[in-house]
Amino acid sequence: MRVTVVGAGYVGAVSAAVLAYLGNRVTCIERDPARLAAWRRGNDPLREPGLGELLQRLDVCFAPVATDLAESEVIVVAVGTPMASDGRPDLEQVETAAAQIGSRARRGAAVLVRSTVPVGTCDRLQSGPLRAQRVVSNPEFLREGHALHDAFFPDRIIAGGPPDAASAVEALFRRIIDRRVLPGDLGGDEGSRAPVPFRWMSAASAELAKYAANGFLATKLSFANEIANLAQSVGADAAAVLGSMGLDPRIGSQFLRPGLGWGGSCFPKDTRALQAIADGMGYDFLVLKAAIDQNARQLRGFAAAIERVLAPHSQVGLLGLAFKAGTADTRESPAVALARLLLQSGMSVSAYDPAVRDLPAEPRIRVRSTLADACEAADAVVIATEWPEFAAMDLRAIRRATRGDVLFDGRSLIAPSSAAAAGFRYAGLAGFIDGTTTTKAVASPRLGTAA
Ligand code: UDX
Repeated sequence: MRVTVVGAGYVGAVSAAVLAYLGNRVTCIERDPARLAAWRRGNDPLREPGLGELLQRLDVCFAPVATDLAESEVIVVAVGTPMASDGRPDLEQVETAAAQIGSRARRGAAVLVRSTVPVGTCDRLQSGPLRAQRVVSNPEFLREGHALHDAFFPDRIIAGGPPDAASAVEALFRRIIDRRVLPGDLGGDEGSRAPVPFRWMSAASAELAKYAANGFLATKLSFANEIANLAQSVGADAAAVLGSMGLDPRIGSQFLRPGLGWGGSCFPKDTRALQAIADGMGYDFLVLKAAIDQNARQLRGFAAAIERVLAPHSQVGLLGLAFKAGTADTRESPAVALARLLLQSGMSVSAYDPAVRDLPAEPRIRVRSTLADACEAADAVVIATEWPEFAAMDLRAIRRATRGDVLFDGRSLIAPSSAAAAGFRYAGLAGFIDGTTTTKAVASPRLGTAA
């Protein structure tokens, strides 16, 4: 089949690779000249593991404009929907793509909307610019750093739209559904051999299913962070508590790792959008609002704990800039947000991240090329991203390089006893831990009140 993918970001480039791998003739449209040039050179501008290599083996045509829209039986919309100032997604790119597709695509072509859009968008496009096509909401659930795995071996495929489009969409993903994709270089499928659930529903349901999943995961994390804070304050072991919760299959062990809060290109945007959707309907989505507030408080509380201990002009060695380990993405990164709060209070910040070499968006953060350089003469070391490299660092060597003796661990990566053995005073998510016991008074953010 001929397929046009509009947008060559994470979702678009991965969709293009998957659909080309499945045997389709794929053209991928990208309007950003730098990103387009990189793809055309065979470089992956997103640095997503395995994606550049896979695309080099496939015959995807990257182009600045849609040349074969008229011949495409399937068109995938994967353009950005950045957050506007009111918290709602900015749909300008979706509208532009829809106008182009509507004027040039063939009658009956399936238009798969993979951009995350507010509930009702697909139906609106269907009765507007895309009235001659079949508009299908087909959200993706890929994680940065694992995008290929998640796309080839998904937990489920969700799609919704006009009933007569269901079989065409199911056929498009047949080999994935039947788990007949086993490319060794994608790490294989470590999951079950049962078919991937394919759920067909209304477009509005599919659109809401995406927000609901991300909203729930964000809420789960906010709850885990609350438990971790409370655990430290009452002298309980957060890891033991959360670990035991995860053994209940109704809860599940994933997304219980406490930290500075959730970030990235999806959760902050999607939770705000879901709240805006609810607000727009006059529905007070209490749990989601609390999760969003908790996320902001988590970060502010940690920054406040640092500010209570360090003098205003202190130097901080910040470990981590990416929003999570395994990616170079700093969008909505809690690590960068934390650095900004510390800079605001007069501190200086030297940072190291294994995947981030510079940070043009925040020139006040001095990005160093080694962990040791970032910590050199620092008054405190702050762990802000959960890179395995930080969990394995030589704490004694770091302590010799620092001026101060405080280690703030925003990702619960270091055992307090190891920090103490290396000569650090250890402060976790809710305060100082002295050896194996919690002494909460020193740096505990006040739980239950906005910090
Ligand atoms: C997420 C969803 O997982 C994915 O399904 C969706 O399509 C896009 O958004 P991603 O943004 O790549 O993917 O990140 P993810 O791995 O889900 O992590 C999100 C945030 O939660 C990160 O800031 C991460 O550090 C944080 N997190 C995650 C934790 O703090 N603890 C955890 O246990 C897991």
